[in-house]
Amino acid sequence: MLKTRGMRKEVKLIGPFKQLISLKGLPLRGPLNDSQLEIIENAGILMEGNNILNIDIFDKLSKNISTNDILITLSGDFVVLPSYIDCHTHISFDGDRSSDFAIRNGGGSYLEIAANGGGIWSTVNQTRQCSLLKIIELILKRANDLLKQGVTTIEIKSGYGLTVEQEIKLLRAINQSNLTSASDLISTCLAAHTLPADYLGAHEDYLEEMIQKLFPILKAEKLSNRIDAFIERSAFSSKQIRPYFEEAKRLGFELCVHADQFTPSGSSLAVEFGALSADHLESSTEKEIELLSNSNTTCVALPAATLGLGCGFAPARKLLDAGSILAIATDWNPGSAPMGNLMECASILGSMEKLSNAELLAGITFRAAKALNLSDRGRLLPGFLADFVIYEIDNYQMIPYLGGKLRPWQVWKNGELAYTRN
Ligand code: NIG
Ligand code: FE
Repeated sequence: MLKTRGMRKEVKLIGPFKQLISLKGLPLRGPLNDSQLEIIENAGILMEGNNILNIDIFDKLSKNISTNDILITLSGDFVVLPSYIDCHTHISFDGDRSSDFAIRNGGGSYLEIAANGGGIWSTVNQTRQCSLLKIIELILKRANDLLKQGVTTIEIKSGYGLTVEQEIKLLRAINQSNLTSASDLISTCLAAHTLPADYLGAHEDYLEEMIQKLFPILKAEKLSNRIDAFIERSAFSSKQIRPYFEEAKRLGFELCVHADQFTPSGSSLAVEFGALSADHLESSTEKEIELLSNSNTTCVALPAATLGLGCGFAPARKLLDAGSILAIATDWNPGSAPMGNLMECASILGSMEKLSNAELLAGITFRAAKALNLSDRGRLLPGFLADFVIYEIDNYQMIPYLGGKLRPWQVWKNGELAYTRN
């Protein structure tokens, strides 16, 4: 079934909710206390078509609706929040890398595995053999898994094709999946993920080929408005990426960077180019933290990659205290982060970096929206998209506390029920 967004205009009222966590008034950057969270008790959500019309006490809202409007009355205790945004994933892949996990735990490093022809390159080999239809099927399955967790906006990178044709295949698969997925799927071109082992030329030649041949197709077919690059020893240097980003920026693409994962490299280029986000940051030092905190670039922490690789966490506490914008994402990929559980990522980062629940929830809602340059979602406010997640509980603190184990009862996207747990 194709999406019917923007075509419906019914008015619906749902409630009462024991707690509605609106995230209203919370700043885009810097530390947050739980006492800053607006919690509305016995609340309702009034929506029209895709959007929220009003948020208020359910009984007040219900007095003002007309007989044509749809009333959904809940009985029992429920908590509602804005649905989640996973602003960094790589779910357009085939196969697995379970052997990498075993090799790493036996002492091999991610960079050594990559240098020996494993790692990203082995997923590229598996993904290149996969048909467009099969990739679409895999993306939809993974998007549906995220939907059941309450995620209704998902960024998805290419990056396992690494030829012009194969990158186009993945980006078409993401865009075609978006036509039928209940969630919004946002494509990012990650042709600069690593130099493919079969490329006959230097890193600079490969990037130049992507500029010449891939960028015009991205524009012509509207395949993606976002360009990402992995700046690291096993991938591309800042010097190599600079002309690539210059051209991307000239053409009007938005930028994001895999930055400071193993070595402090990438975040300064991200800031210099006004990238929307700098993602990873496990190796960021005081210098990078200061640069990022004085910029509009969102810092995206990826705790699952830390767990998968057994390294340090991004310095989330320091980044927030310095005034940065901090988002949290799954990084769902077959190598470093195959788990794909957003709330689990947030909870673990909370424990390890001492983040408040407000900081965790902000990191997977409106601050993650900022990383994607979206201002219409991530809070429950009039005018925002009616995207929300409902739990059968009476206290929102249970959600991060249970670390992803507590599953939503219902997930709503664009004013429509997108998922209900049986
Ligand atoms: O964000 N660091 C580079 N890219 C991915 C991992 C991709 C892979 O290992 O397949 C990441 O962790
Ligand atoms: Fe990644």
